[in-house]
Amino acid sequence: MRWRVLILFILLGCSSDLSDDSIPYVAFQDIVINLNLPEYNTLKTTGHQYINSGGVKGIILHQVNSSLYYAFERNCSYQPNNVCSTVEIHSSNLYLMDPCCGSMFGFDGNPTGGVAWRPLRRYETILNGSTLTITDSVIQ
Ligand code: FES
Repeated sequence: MRWRVLILFILLGCSSDLSDDSIPYVAFQDIVINLNLPEYNTLKTTGHQYINSGGVKGIILHQVNSSLYYAFERNCSYQPNNVCSTVEIHSSNLYLMDPCCGSMFGFDGNPTGGVAWRPLRRYETILNGSTLTITDSVIQ
């Protein structure tokens, strides 16, 4: 019986669906980060890091270059209302992935594989010296 549920989940939960819901919106207070603090060292070594507040399911911060940062919503752009719909930094550090259905995203937020067809949501970032502010304004 359990395999039937699994097949139904794969057919209904993880097949491409262009009428799919968009990512819900949850307003949040500005997140202000001092990039010089040791807790942001991972950002310097790998170029990306989880921020465990803000957004619907938290944020992945990506350093594009020394003056530009992208803040991605972790709620997957595909079937975002699935309980498991959460984007992670792949262990290779080369791309983002939602293990829920296997969708993959580049660090520009665009889908590169799997069933997702919308880009990840990106929030506004403002850099002032070594202080980075993430706001709840949606860029894409
Ligand atoms: S929830 Fe299925 S790919 Fe993200």
